[in-house]
Amino acid sequence: MPLPAVELPSLYAPIDVDMRAVDAVIRERLHSDVVLVRQVAEYIVSAGGKRMRPALVLLSAGACGYSGTHHHELAAVVEFIHTATLLHDDVVDESALRRGRDTANALFGNAASVLVGDFLYSRAFQMMVGVGSMRVMQVLADATNVIAEGEVLQLMNCRNADIEVDDYLRVIRYKTAKLFEAAGRLGAMLGNSSPEVEEAMASYGMHIGTAFQLIDDVLDYSGVEAETGKHLGDDLAEGKPTLPLIHVIQHGSADAAGLVRDAIENADRDAFPAVLDAVRSSGALDAARRHGIAEAEAAKAALTPLASSKFRETLLQLSDFAVQRSF
Ligand code: IPE
Ligand code: IPE
Ligand code: MG
Ligand code: MG
Repeated sequence: MPLPAVELPSLYAPIDVDMRAVDAVIRERLHSDVVLVRQVAEYIVSAGGKRMRPALVLLSAGACGYSGTHHHELAAVVEFIHTATLLHDDVVDESALRRGRDTANALFGNAASVLVGDFLYSRAFQMMVGVGSMRVMQVLADATNVIAEGEVLQLMNCRNADIEVDDYLRVIRYKTAKLFEAAGRLGAMLGNSSPEVEEAMASYGMHIGTAFQLIDDVLDYSGVEAETGKHLGDDLAEGKPTLPLIHVIQHGSADAAGLVRDAIENADRDAFPAVLDAVRSSGALDAARRHGIAEAEAAKAALTPLASSKFRETLLQLSDFAVQRSF
């Protein structure tokens, strides 16, 4: 059951026309003469996705008074980088379901997924060069590099039941929030904003991105597959010590903590039902959710320096969506 290409229709109403323009740029720039590149890239893109990062570029640009057309190209660049990370991430995580469909690695194999991920990264670089701004390139090159560091850091933390909350937070800021930060910053840069407003939009992106991943990690235990479009338990199967599990280890009963510790160290998907019981009964899902809500509130607070507008209003709602979402 593929998710529709443009989700969150009411939230995106103020940027409806722009989102369509971004979609057109994405379709056009996916082109390659190499058949397998087209097949894999179109396969994952046609499954849709929430398009939150390109929406953030557009909303930030709008909230910062931008009125040109470079934001369509940059929003598409950000979505390409995101899509490349998904292709690689599903190989690394050995995931079989994404956006309600078999993953590209399940269907086309790991090699094709990695290589088409590389195609999307490098196509994104070609597009950003076309925009012709050294600062834009710097922001996106830095973000892409930090995402890679985040995924490697996470790999190093797999099966480690002793990691601290701060180590976990560093991973999710790098692997996920950094791209949201770049998206917020790029919109402000397009609008020629003051340094204060640019930092505000970057901070909004960092906080909403952190909230978003905290909730993603909660949904990996408490979500509904038909809504998330992903298999539950993928994090446990990789021995990923996400916040719900760290919370049980640090605050749960000795039994619950021991059970979760073993499941992480053995990357034991079969322990999923027992781990789910442990995270539920020790209040770990609620604690992680509360942490996400605090980040979403920090994202909203970051918007204080921005003048009021329908775009700013939507940014406030988007941060609520990041934590209330079920998909
Ligand atoms: C998935 O991101 C990867 C994470 C950072 C958790 P999204 O949930 O935004 O993916 P799509 O684009 O909507 O499928
Ligand atoms: C995704 O992290 C982060 C990136 C793709 C960089 P996850 O592994 O938690 O995302 P899902 O759950 O597979 O979407
Ligand atoms: Mg994953
Ligand atoms: Mg996840």
